[in-house]
Amino acid sequence: MAKVIAVANQKGGVGKSSVVANLGIGMALRGKKVALIDADPQGSLTASLGFQDPDEIRYTLATIMMKVINEEEIDPAEGVLHHEEGVDLIPANIELSGLEVSFANAMSRELILKEYVDLIRNDYDYILIDCMPSLGVMTVNALVAADRVLIPVQAAYLPVKGLQQLLKTVLVVKKRLNKDLEIEGILITMVDYRTNYAKDITEMLRDNYGNTVGIMKSHIPFSVKVAEASAEGISIYCYAPRCKVTESFERLTEEVLENEE
Ligand SMILES: Nc1ncnc2c1ncn2[C@@H]1O[C@H](COP(=O)(O)OP(=O)(O)OP(=O)(O)O)[C@@H](O)[C@H]1O
Ligand SMILES: [Mg+2]
Repeated sequence: MAKVIAVANQKGGVGKSSVVANLGIGMALRGKKVALIDADPQGSLTASLGFQDPDEIRYTLATIMMKVINEEEIDPAEGVLHHEEGVDLIPANIELSGLEVSFANAMSRELILKEYVDLIRNDYDYILIDCMPSLGVMTVNALVAADRVLIPVQAAYLPVKGLQQLLKTVLVVKKRLNKDLEIEGILITMVDYRTNYAKDITEMLRDNYGNTVGIMKSHIPFSVKVAEASAEGISIYCYAPRCKVTESFERLTEEVLENEE
């Protein structure tokens, strides 16, 4: 049975999609069976794995969720894309944003994604969900489907208030819809060693949230190589082996795998 990890932060551009791609492929490199779910109508995870025109893909997460809403049968293998580096991808595109309208009338609309995730759980060791930058019904669906939530936070920007909102949402979901939901931790990303220090930011986060939320030991440095790898549709391991940022993703992968043991 797969462990399901949602990667969420309603703040945009903090590195969620990059973390999902490189953590997922890092797990695959360690022999895990991994599925990545793109739950963002922007489709950036889909694009960053080399499927450059997400809006041209016909069978996506929107198709699947629509089937769940309409009680239609789902073939778990249908629409799943296979990346050359060994992960499966359930893609997304702009159609996912149209789904919110259908959600409005759907019964138990927070449970739609979970129904699909539970259907594929037995086929994988890990399922990572890339959330969109909002705390709307799609993100709540991801939190309901997940066992854990990993929260990337950009080092240069400390959205203390935003983080409180996210943590509150997680608590409400845990209380009402998914009592087993746990926080994997806050992950500090895009650390620029010239202007700020991961240590100071870790301390600030610890002062503000340390009693309620764990902070990951690993952090991800700022590196253009992350964007360059995405543009090539490959992982950082493939694009820039033995780089500092690559090592940081390797450490993150190990930390997350150890947390499950
Ligand atoms: N560690 C990093 N160093 C430098 N650039 C990065 C890093 N991680 C991600 N980026 C780049 O920053 C941009 C935003 O990253 P990403 O798409 O992963 O964030 P996101 O949180 O998923 O964004 P959104 O909220 O829009 O979904 C991308 O262009 C990406 O390539
Ligand atoms: Mg994203």
